[in-house]
Amino acid sequence: MKFTGRDIISIEDFSRKEIDYILQASQKMEPLASKGSDMLKGKILATLFFEPSTRTRLSFEAAMLKLGGSTIGFADADISSVKKGENLSDTIRTIENYAEAIALRHPLEGSARLAAEFSNVPILNAGSGAEEHPTQALMDLYTIKKEKGKIDNLKIALLGDLRYGRTVHSLASALSLYDIELFLISPKSLRMRKGLVNSIKNKISIIEDKNLEKILPEIDVLYVTRIQKERFPDPAEYSKVKGVYKIDINTIKAGKESLILLHPLPRLDEISAEIDKTPHAKYFQQVGNGIVVRMALLSLVLG
Ligand code: CP
Repeated sequence: MKFTGRDIISIEDFSRKEIDYILQASQKMEPLASKGSDMLKGKILATLFFEPSTRTRLSFEAAMLKLGGSTIGFADADISSVKKGENLSDTIRTIENYAEAIALRHPLEGSARLAAEFSNVPILNAGSGAEEHPTQALMDLYTIKKEKGKIDNLKIALLGDLRYGRTVHSLASALSLYDIELFLISPKSLRMRKGLVNSIKNKISIIEDKNLEKILPEIDVLYVTRIQKERFPDPAEYSKVKGVYKIDINTIKAGKESLILLHPLPRLDEISAEIDKTPHAKYFQQVGNGIVVRMALLSLVLG
């Protein structure tokens, strides 16, 4: 399987075989994440973040450092020449002279694909508007596999903002390659886009609903998302759905003992802090898994 020089733009660019290969490579990175390696010594990763981030940027940087490489970049485009009006393609054609790979987060859909068209080095999409977050989906799959021992034959629910949340778009696409039952739970105004739902429906069974209560007793994985206030075109629309789902200890009493809760984070009030200390909460393990998955991706695309 060839990954050298490849861009990581969309989950839709990958087959199940390739995703399983990345998950296996991630597992092999577990010992290196603690003891370190010089696998990517002399290589530089540029992290260009045009939107805020804690986990994605820092875990890409940590992954590169753990493999012996180095990082450059910016966490705020206002301190770059973008502030002077430089466009994305010129920025990419500049940075490719300084780095062997670029992790890019940008508010516009299609930005990562555009960057890849101009770049001679691999582009890793670290979030493109409300569209996709493929490396997050890979760490979500890795977490499900690690916690449940499998992905096939599970009942998985995605809950919250399925319209503007990019992580759920990539994750739903990835899950459609497995033999699972998918539940999409959201208010009507935050349903997943029809085009994506239809393409997934061709591959697996989907149930869309606005109530979690009905399906909670039967699901194995509950993936909770934040309502993405910053992406609403109209603040009045946000007010209507703000705080619509709140998972607390009482809520999960109706779930299986083995139910796991995932969340890409950051969270607001959609998962109560009292759940953190229960065996259901796996979202901080999910964060930790971001390191090995991004180590695997960097090692694969950098050969
Ligand atoms: N999950 C995620 O993308 O987190 P950050 O926005 O902190 O990178």
